[in-house]
Amino acid sequence: MKSLTLCSLRPLSLLLLAASLFSLTAASQPAPRPNPQLVSKDVNARVEALLRQMTLDEKVGQLAQFSAGFATGPGANNLRYDELAAKGQVGSLLSLVSAESTNHYQHLAVEKSRLHIPILFGMDVIHGHRTTFPVPLALAASWDPATIETVARMGAVEARADGIPWVFSPMVDIARDPRWGRIIESAGEDPYLGSAMARAWVKGYQQDDLSKPDSVAVSVKHFAAYGGAIAGRDYNAVDMGEITLRQVYLEPYRAAVEAGAATLMSSFNSINGIPASANPFTLTQILRKEWGFDGFVVSDWGAVAELRNHSIGDDATVARKALEAGVDMDMEGNLFGTVIAAQVRSGKIPEAVVDEAVRRILRVKFALGLFDHPYTAEGPAYDATPERRAAARKVAEETFVLLKNDPVEGVGALLPLTAKAKKVALIGPLADSQTEMLGAWAVTGDPKYAVTLKTALSERLGDRLLYAQGCDLLSGEDANVLKQASFTGQAVAGSKDMPIPDDQKTIAEAVETAKKADVAILALGESASWMEGEAASRATLGFTGAQQQLLEAVVATGKPVILVVLAGRPLELKWAAQHVPAILEAWSPGIEAGPALVRVLFGDVNPSGKLPASLPRAVGQEPLYYAQLPTGRPAHGDLGHLPRDPGERFMSRYMDEENSALYPFGWGLSYTRFSYSQPTISRPEVPMREIFASGHHPAATVGVEVKNTGGVAGTEVVQLYIRNTSASVEQPVRELKGFARVTLAPGESKHVEFPLGFDELSFYNAEIHRTVEATTYKIWVGGSSLATAETSLQVTE
Ligand code: BGC
Repeated sequence: MKSLTLCSLRPLSLLLLAASLFSLTAASQPAPRPNPQLVSKDVNARVEALLRQMTLDEKVGQLAQFSAGFATGPGANNLRYDELAAKGQVGSLLSLVSAESTNHYQHLAVEKSRLHIPILFGMDVIHGHRTTFPVPLALAASWDPATIETVARMGAVEARADGIPWVFSPMVDIARDPRWGRIIESAGEDPYLGSAMARAWVKGYQQDDLSKPDSVAVSVKHFAAYGGAIAGRDYNAVDMGEITLRQVYLEPYRAAVEAGAATLMSSFNSINGIPASANPFTLTQILRKEWGFDGFVVSDWGAVAELRNHSIGDDATVARKALEAGVDMDMEGNLFGTVIAAQVRSGKIPEAVVDEAVRRILRVKFALGLFDHPYTAEGPAYDATPERRAAARKVAEETFVLLKNDPVEGVGALLPLTAKAKKVALIGPLADSQTEMLGAWAVTGDPKYAVTLKTALSERLGDRLLYAQGCDLLSGEDANVLKQASFTGQAVAGSKDMPIPDDQKTIAEAVETAKKADVAILALGESASWMEGEAASRATLGFTGAQQQLLEAVVATGKPVILVVLAGRPLELKWAAQHVPAILEAWSPGIEAGPALVRVLFGDVNPSGKLPASLPRAVGQEPLYYAQLPTGRPAHGDLGHLPRDPGERFMSRYMDEENSALYPFGWGLSYTRFSYSQPTISRPEVPMREIFASGHHPAATVGVEVKNTGGVAGTEVVQLYIRNTSASVEQPVRELKGFARVTLAPGESKHVEFPLGFDELSFYNAEIHRTVEATTYKIWVGGSSLATAETSLQVTE
């Protein structure tokens, strides 16, 4: 297949194609200046005037960031921040959480330092600030950009009230391997969904106007490809081809930059042998030259100093490499502060390099209005008001994914729960833990605000609710360590005297409790404190401790079981899928966990979440994702047994497990059913040049009727997938290219349309140009990545 190149054009077409060629360039190199505010005339003039007055030490001071609050990594500096602030030698402080503490340092910087440059306070606001919402992976399961915006907005307002105008969010790393604990902070495995979420985060935080008093600047992290860590082990190297890097891993960052992101955070990992925090290809070539990014890049915690461990030079060398590659601010490592100035003085680093980094940082400070309004008014103490709770509950309700709801003989479907269930047994270590409901990276969230499933269920059921914890999240001494774990991972003294929990005894008690009930709800998963988030990779994906044993023991009672999974990563649920009739994936739902779960379990709210990441049958399938590249020996037939002949053997398969996900990307059931019409395409054929010209507009439109054929109202996430059947570079077997949430009353149908243009149909060719070629696209529309309703689009030369 030919792609559109200049030599393939006839003179006659040239006029017609002038616009197309412009679009081609525009499409492959997104518009420069994605955030005009950062480079406005006014901001530029103020930045340049200030820069001219700065000494080298003051400039280098702007490149330094320290944690004056708690530590979120190893080796905190603990310097004298009062003194540094007063001397103008600190550009930013992180992890200070109150108007009082930020004002303290701001007064020193603004009133005592020679040039009165305000400090930029930064903070991990990841899924809400004081009000803890569900974790980002759960939020992505809503497939609802409006929901993300709500969470970002409330986080921004609460962060601003605490003196924080800069948040280390969104995390847009593609995560295709749930062994990596940080999948919890991501939007999962897919670049299209991830990009939609990334845009929504940026919009919600920045509101397209950094100068608004309730806007915060984002820091999109972790640039780049941090989620591609080999073997899912945190901080590990990333090694991937440039096409995958760009087409999959970089897409959500690009979307965030195009949406106006003010800052990015450079990651810990290396990419194809070059550490990401000293990588001119990603930090300068792609980010600045191709994407036109004008904000600044902060390193991740100590990532500049850790370059030494990547063996690319001594202190002076690695700091120079990081700065010259495009890292502007050094988080916590303090290497810029100690070795850059001397190298400028000796001529090793041109001062213009330092100037450029300072310029980028000052731009963000000016755009945020910090020079004009450096302080934060001290307001009333935070409270989880009914309005905040209502927002947290509504969001959580959208994030639950009903994985399975098979009818039970003599009972029917277990969910939604009805009055027939007179006695309900609630069992499991996650049924009544406030801390665990918040999830990893609930940095300023206070567990005291969290309402557990037990609390909410007992409000609903009174003495019809029976309860047994069943076991801990971990077994033996580990269970005690876990009970005393703090956010920073330190165990609090006193664990020595705690009796070691006896799983067998507590499981036996739980079995007795289940026997007394009509139905058992098991709340199982993993610990947010130790097993999820940063530095929480796992080599296995099952329930931790004795939870699997507990599950099997309760199922063995013969009582119908509903499993509620509370975890920040896709767990291995194969046994449960075979033996438990109803499974609800509930992630880490935030402060309104209990009420939101109860409303969904009882059918006040119909579940509508869809998986943002595939759930495996076995950990050995990882990394497992639906958008796989084709193989010359595709697997077919029944893979549930050993091959019986060479035809069954010599294909891309496992000997001991099926290839497919247990529950695939996009999967999620409802209490109602939806049907799909045969999709239609507005034009079955489109000339290639029209697609180049389409830019953000559709060249063709796919239409489908979606109908609620069940008995209750429900919301379906309608998904569109494509496959490019004949490209110069092989393309995934399926790729998500559109989705829409549609709410339908019983019997109601709606017509849904999806645009297809350059954005949806293009890919990177071998020359690393985003392009479209003559080909046929297969197109499917449906309620998951298994969608079968099909049409096609032919792209002609
Ligand atoms: C994490 C970042 C976080 C930073 C600041 C690092 O350890 O990787 O995601 O923003 O700490 O707390």
